[in-house]
Amino acid sequence: MENISDSLCRYKDYNFGIGLTTAEYIDSLQSFEIRDSDVFLVTYPKSGTIWTQQIITSIYELDDDHVPYPNNLERMPWLEYVEGREDYSLRPSPRLFASHLTPTLLPPGLRSKKAKIIYVMRNPKDNVVSYYHFCHAWAKLETPTSFEDFLEQYLEGKVGASSWFDHIRVWHAKREQYNILFLSYEDMILDLKTAVSRICLFLGKDLSDESVRQIVEKSTFRNMKKDPKANYEFLPADIMTGQFMRKGCIGDWKNSFTVAQSERFDRVVQERVGDMNLAFTWDAASRPQGAGKP
Ligand code: A3P
Repeated sequence: MENISDSLCRYKDYNFGIGLTTAEYIDSLQSFEIRDSDVFLVTYPKSGTIWTQQIITSIYELDDDHVPYPNNLERMPWLEYVEGREDYSLRPSPRLFASHLTPTLLPPGLRSKKAKIIYVMRNPKDNVVSYYHFCHAWAKLETPTSFEDFLEQYLEGKVGASSWFDHIRVWHAKREQYNILFLSYEDMILDLKTAVSRICLFLGKDLSDESVRQIVEKSTFRNMKKDPKANYEFLPADIMTGQFMRKGCIGDWKNSFTVAQSERFDRVVQERVGDMNLAFTWDAASRPQGAGKP
């Protein structure tokens, strides 16, 4: 791995946080044995990962028959991070994993289409703002000198998990190879019950209306914020000094972007993913519009 800044290192065209993993471990994922019952949550950072993690772990908690895991991270660990890693081959099924990786870095067995992947995308303006604030909260990331500077780094892909544009493009391009459900953060905000129902359907979980209602309730921003299994306040202060649960809304980008930054960003979105027919919801009052055809 080659260090590219004080907090990032690069390996196989992907930016990792320094100290979070090793080249040997990332290589070993190529022979990681996938089970048909595995469920992967894949996101670009700051797209609603821990939110979806709360939904998926809550669904499986209903029929987990082992001792409950102390928190969502233990139940659904990040595949690529080595810290405190156990031997996942000893884990009972169904195993749940989170990941920010791109298709080529993940275990090839996922392409058998039996294991399931849920991919969550967020509109990139809110994504970059969330990421900017996260860099202040996550001790192992460099604190950006200004939003303007961070915006440049983000557009150039000089951030952890590399370029948002590449991540979105490669996962969509490879979608036929996987058993994958695409969701958006904005759809979850606008109609959480429907999002939970779609996830249940995809996972083959036929839950009662009451169980769905309870999962929705557990997964609201307000309730997750005070849920010690879900809000990541269990992380030690030398890792996390702020909060994962920050604002939790659509359209917060308007509080950070200048008009000029927004116009430039729109142009880059158009250039980089305009051909993909993605539908973006840029604020809570509007339905999808933006780069491609709605
Ligand atoms: P903001 O920084 O915009 O508030 P990730 O989990 O991928 O790191 O994403 C974090 C973002 O998801 C944060 O966005 C966080 O507030 C938001 N989030 C987490 N739980 C949420 C919930 N239950 N409802 C809405 N947003 C949520």
